Amino acid sequence: MQKISAQIKKSGKTIVLVPTMGYLHEGHLSLVRIGQKVCDIVIVSIFVNPTQFGPAEDLDSYPKDLERDCALLKKEGVETVFAPASEELYPAGYQTYVNTLKLSEHLCGISRPALFQGVTTVLTKLFNIVNPDKAVFGKKDFQQFVIVSRMVKDLNFNIEIIGAPIIREADGLAMSSRNAYLKKNQRDSALSLYKALKKAENLVKKGEKKAEVIINAASKLINSFDEILIDYISICDFEFFEEVKIIDRPVLMALAVKAGRTRLIDNIILFQ
Ligand code: PAJ
Repeated sequence: MQKISAQIKKSGKTIVLVPTMGYLHEGHLSLVRIGQKVCDIVIVSIFVNPTQFGPAEDLDSYPKDLERDCALLKKEGVETVFAPASEELYPAGYQTYVNTLKLSEHLCGISRPALFQGVTTVLTKLFNIVNPDKAVFGKKDFQQFVIVSRMVKDLNFNIEIIGAPIIREADGLAMSSRNAYLKKNQRDSALSLYKALKKAENLVKKGEKKAEVIINAASKLINSFDEILIDYISICDFEFFEEVKIIDRPVLMALAVKAGRTRLIDNIILFQ
């Protein structure tokens, strides 16, 4: 991959990286299409990164279909897919990790303490291997997007990070590889995330400023669905994820729930 990247660079072309864990859907493909607009060559990485999964999480059952992913990417005109084996990125004796300290201690970092250290570590490695000029990340994983942007700034990576809008199913459910786990009744309940965010947006538009009132309304709505367990609902600033009590500027409302055993996240920017 490093050789291919060097050859592309030598020919004067620019590279944009779209990092993924595969089992691609329209959300991933939207990042590819954004990439095609901003650089000459799009490289997609497909790697189910073991270091970002906790011991009780879904690493072993994470959906995979490399053949289908490659066919989808070929259709989009992507010629280079980087799909290393786990032992190639983490050989025996591996010792080095990258951390974004406080940023990883909020939102998803609370119930998934290994997540962001794993993400920043694997992205550091992917950036060093692929050497892209730009990289595209979905705002579906808003905290990840902010953390990667911070890491690139703090560690002087010469890479522009581009944030892409959330792609949703027709009914509003944010697309996710993990949606494949959902049984029929859980799929219905999964829609409560989007409904709660829309409810919050409407409350704010009507003049509600108190975060507590909005969180309570969202929580009540989500809890009215079956097989749903709320992990967190947070209204916070979108640079450091500090809790916001009064909405007097644009803020991030982020939530995570479990539908059955499937963890789902979604978010929206609220402003009046
Ligand atoms: P993965 O969940 O496969 O997502 C890959 C990229 O697709 C991320 O930037 C994510 O935000 C984006 N994405 C997923 N669903 C989306 C949607 N509905 N709309 C818009 N973008 C969406 O995120 C990861 O993999 C990993 O943590 C990774 C960055 C690859 C590091 O291992």
